[in-house]
Amino acid sequence: MKIAKHGGNIYEVAQKLGIQPTEILDFSANINPLGVPASFRKALIENISMIENYPDPNYEQLIDGMSKYHQISPSCITVGNGATEIIFSIISALKPKNALILAPTFAEYERALMKANCEVHSYRLKEELDFTVDEGFLKALDDSIDMVILCNPNNPTGQMIDSEMMELILDKCRELRINLIIDEAFNEFLDCPEERSMISHIESYKNLYIIRSLTKFFALPGLRIGYGISGNQDVLQKIASGKEPWTINSFAALAGEIVVEDHEYIDNSKNWINREREFLFKGLQNISQIKVYKPEANYIFLRVVDDSHISLQDKLLEKRILIRSCGNYENLDGTYYRVAIKDRDANEKLLQALREVFYEN
Ligand SMILES: Cc1ncc(COP(=O)(O)O)c(C=O)c1O
Repeated sequence: MKIAKHGGNIYEVAQKLGIQPTEILDFSANINPLGVPASFRKALIENISMIENYPDPNYEQLIDGMSKYHQISPSCITVGNGATEIIFSIISALKPKNALILAPTFAEYERALMKANCEVHSYRLKEELDFTVDEGFLKALDDSIDMVILCNPNNPTGQMIDSEMMELILDKCRELRINLIIDEAFNEFLDCPEERSMISHIESYKNLYIIRSLTKFFALPGLRIGYGISGNQDVLQKIASGKEPWTINSFAALAGEIVVEDHEYIDNSKNWINREREFLFKGLQNISQIKVYKPEANYIFLRVVDDSHISLQDKLLEKRILIRSCGNYENLDGTYYRVAIKDRDANEKLLQALREVFYEN
């Protein structure tokens, strides 16, 4: 079965299998299993009549919320209909001619670059280095490149760029006048997320653009809310002038103000991820037919290493479990997969299903 290029398309899969989407245990989308924060559920019901008015076109309260969350000036923030809108709008404002991205990485960078008629070059991460960004990447940065996009942690590999390497990349990009976009959509799932974010560098590096999303950690993929952070006011102005009005609906704007203040949800989520990341990682490591890459965020990248040539995705779909096949990423093949980290019950079901698949073969 050929399944769409993003995870989470349970509708298409359910239709093909002739079942309801709710019958599928979805490990393909990397979303916090604690679900929508209760604080936002309550606010949504109390504020349902907001729908009768247009949202504030400047989203001042939302931007103030993000500014407090990151302790940065509101003037450094641009908000959008998911991180995806921000990726497209930054690229459209900067008009790069030659961009360098990682392979594998999140697919929307290439689409956004191609839409801007930019030539896309990929740096093929090395399997023998577990797909980490290595010295060779620095060497690939030269005068011919005017934009670099990094995903940190990278999707689908879950690998973080080493902090010393990141400093070297920042310096080299500034020296060569390369615009550097760092997508931190999964930052909140990391240990010590603030320390590992590059937000604190925006004033020193005016060529730096950080992408953030509320989709993943706050379990709001259907709402669509993300934002960009930069110290480059000229480019932020350009983004603002190119934007369509009201791309963020009133509820998404409200969510942004509320969820980042929900400390109980944030603490519970951190406890969940610390516990379940270790549990699922160890459980997967015990299955000798797969190689498991050490996870940093809320998903685990793995490879089937036996020579049975099975489609793990198809085998698990027989058990109504959907995982993300990574065969359609550049520099990967059909032996690679990504699974989300879910709650204990779901994680146990996945491990049990995998044991059955590999014992049967
Ligand atoms: C690395 C990365 N960035 C951005 C996005 C898009 O996020 P949003 O839902 O906020 O548009 C995704 C979604 O999968 C992603 O994996």
